[in-house]
Amino acid sequence: MTSSPAPVRATGEGSRTPRGTRRVDAARDHLWMHFARHSGLYEGHDVPVIVRGDGVRIWDDAGRRYLDGLAGLFVVQVGHGRRELAEVAARQAEQLAYFPLWSYAHPAAVDLAERLAAYAPGDLNRVFFTTGGGEAVETAWKLAKQYWKLVGKPTKHKVVSRAVAYHGAPQGALAITGIPGAKQAFEPLVPGGLKVPNTNRYRAPDHLRDDGKAFGRWAADRIEEAILFEGPDTVAAVFLEPVQNSGGCIPPPPGYFDRVREICDAHDVLLVSDEVICAFGRIGSIFACDDFGYVPDMITCAKGMTSGYSPIGATIVSDRLFEPFRKGTSTFAHGFTFGGHPVSSAVAMANLDIFERENLVDHVKATAPAFRTTLEKLLDLPIVGDVRGAGYFYGIELVKDKATRETFDAEESERLLRGFLSKALFEAGLYCRADDRGDPVVQLAPPLICGQSEFDEMEQILRDVLTEAWSHV
Ligand SMILES: Cc1ncc(COP(=O)(O)O)c(C=O)c1O
Repeated sequence: MTSSPAPVRATGEGSRTPRGTRRVDAARDHLWMHFARHSGLYEGHDVPVIVRGDGVRIWDDAGRRYLDGLAGLFVVQVGHGRRELAEVAARQAEQLAYFPLWSYAHPAAVDLAERLAAYAPGDLNRVFFTTGGGEAVETAWKLAKQYWKLVGKPTKHKVVSRAVAYHGAPQGALAITGIPGAKQAFEPLVPGGLKVPNTNRYRAPDHLRDDGKAFGRWAADRIEEAILFEGPDTVAAVFLEPVQNSGGCIPPPPGYFDRVREICDAHDVLLVSDEVICAFGRIGSIFACDDFGYVPDMITCAKGMTSGYSPIGATIVSDRLFEPFRKGTSTFAHGFTFGGHPVSSAVAMANLDIFERENLVDHVKATAPAFRTTLEKLLDLPIVGDVRGAGYFYGIELVKDKATRETFDAEESERLLRGFLSKALFEAGLYCRADDRGDPVVQLAPPLICGQSEFDEMEQILRDVLTEAWSHV
């Protein structure tokens, strides 16, 4: 299912802008990279300039080839270089490049809304389009607040989410985010964002570590504790990822979501499944709540919906939540110029056609156990403390001492992750993520078309680089 043409010969020269500047120099001087420290570019390091993708491979502007172990940014599910998606985009742009969803509809958005509603569980039948994940999260919180006002519970406005979880950069979504370092510079944020522990079992309290069910119950009960402490009449929603990305692909313990659903129902709190990463086959199903057997009140999604061939996001909500907006003069006064863009909607339809034609969901379900087994071989390395995740979404937690699970301090993390690992993995031909927003982890989320040979390639590169990393500890 993958295609990988012969590697382009490395010229080492890099590319130039239309004005004749070396691209790495123009990037250093003019481009503001997201979530990036720029100082390195003034100390002799060049930013990688990625020019092309095909299947599971990407190329930089010096002709070097890499395995895309992160599907761009958890996005490129069907792989790079799919001509049919480019052609659909061109056709749609020619026919109707743009029209808003502000009191009007266009066929691509209507068709996609109907299709997403059919994939979604329960009565999640109403789709509000955005341009990305952060806007989808922002939309879900605003909608939750207004819904409770319309049904006569106007004081319900706070939200519960988990430590270290990332839910987006807009100021509402950032208030839901649980990463202190990502928030401090922008405080004060939207008030009302409450935090509870996440479900990292490797870091669970000692007495719960060996009993998944008990840990799941404990972690879910922390949500109820927060709701009761604040007062259920003040809490609007709980935002949870099916598998938490930040902190290193943290899966839910058994029974966790059943208990969370029970708690939400008991206290009239909406459950939002933030599937910006986990939807569209990343865990296995089109919507990952199906992988764990719960029905949320809203799903937020984005990334994999178009495999990145054009940007889009969505908040999918239940009939119950839409009901008060169906009547009289009530309006959800919220929207985005490019939400549900015709080109993106058409591309999403074609992307989902590929999912169905190539049985990508079944492919992930069938091969995910082999991905896990292959990555678990790395547990024989002294620096690998934990391998965790689900589907095509794995984190490898690095530790200083396996026996005690001692982690690296901030300075060691800095030296290891930024100073060595990211660069060494990339130079060895693997694009993935070394992340220290929680304990240090390497994350893998390859295109869903990968198979055993790519799993082996990832394992081999990681083995070589992590072995060398140990000598830097
Ligand atoms: C769970 C989750 N929610 C929201 C977002 C924000 O999405 P975007 O970057 O498209 O705004 C992300 C981004 O990675 C995410 O992982």
